[in-house]
Amino acid sequence: MDLRTVDLRAGPRLDADGCVLRAFRDDDVPLVLAASADPSITRVTTVPPCADEYAARTWIRLQHARVVDGVGLPFAIADAVTDEALGQVGLWFSGVGAGRARVGYWVPAAHRGRGITRRALRALCPWAFEGGVERLELYVEPHNLASHHVAEGAGFHWEGLLRAWETVGAQRRDMVMYSRLPSDPATPWRATPRASNASGPSPARGR
Ligand SMILES: CC(C)(COP(=O)(O)OP(=O)(O)OC[C@H]1O[C@@H](n2cnc3c(N)ncnc32)[C@H](O)[C@@H]1OP(=O)(O)O)[C@@H](O)C(=O)NCCC(=O)NCCS
Repeated sequence: MDLRTVDLRAGPRLDADGCVLRAFRDDDVPLVLAASADPSITRVTTVPPCADEYAARTWIRLQHARVVDGVGLPFAIADAVTDEALGQVGLWFSGVGAGRARVGYWVPAAHRGRGITRRALRALCPWAFEGGVERLELYVEPHNLASHHVAEGAGFHWEGLLRAWETVGAQRRDMVMYSRLPSDPATPWRATPRASNASGPSPARGR
């Protein structure tokens, strides 16, 4: 399987323990509208703020174009029973070297705190490794504690702090680099306990 040529709209549908990962569809507009109203999502993604239905549909079409262009594989995280879209998780290939892929995700506030993102990530990683990815990378702002929990809960390892790594909004921001390799266990990663602050891994937090 070559991930850069996968046709997401023809499948696959990945099982994520109560959720599925599938291609975005036109009727996922309500999810995009909810994300568009959430500044914590629009500041770090391509979802436009204050979108109307037209802008939401345009964003969904952009996701399909990104697959065709080989930029990445954006999946909707959907309820396994109702198929309602609850969030997004994606693999991105642009700007990263051969054999590597970057992971990104968001879930609007109404669906947070139910483990949706962690389960989506746990389903996505083995599929990406089967598709030949040799290293998954994840960049998380130091203050984004929910995302640190998600990353570590899905077996990603904290590697270090990248200072002024990326422009977010109008400012250069530090990013914590996480990675997961095919040989890493799928179980939650436990940091070596040390000072809990923005420049070092969060301790195991009781896990
Ligand atoms: C990050 C995000 C995707 C998490 O989504 P979610 O579906 O709520 O995630 P989950 O329910 O799988 O896990 C959330 C974890 O964070 C913890 N958490 C949530 N808010 C927290 C906070 N303010 N402080 C500390 N921990 C927090 C939860 O307890 C849970 O941890 P646990 O699994 O160890 O119990 C969501 O908050 C979001 O979309 N944020 C805005 C966009 C974003 O930041 N994307 C990631 C960019 S790197």
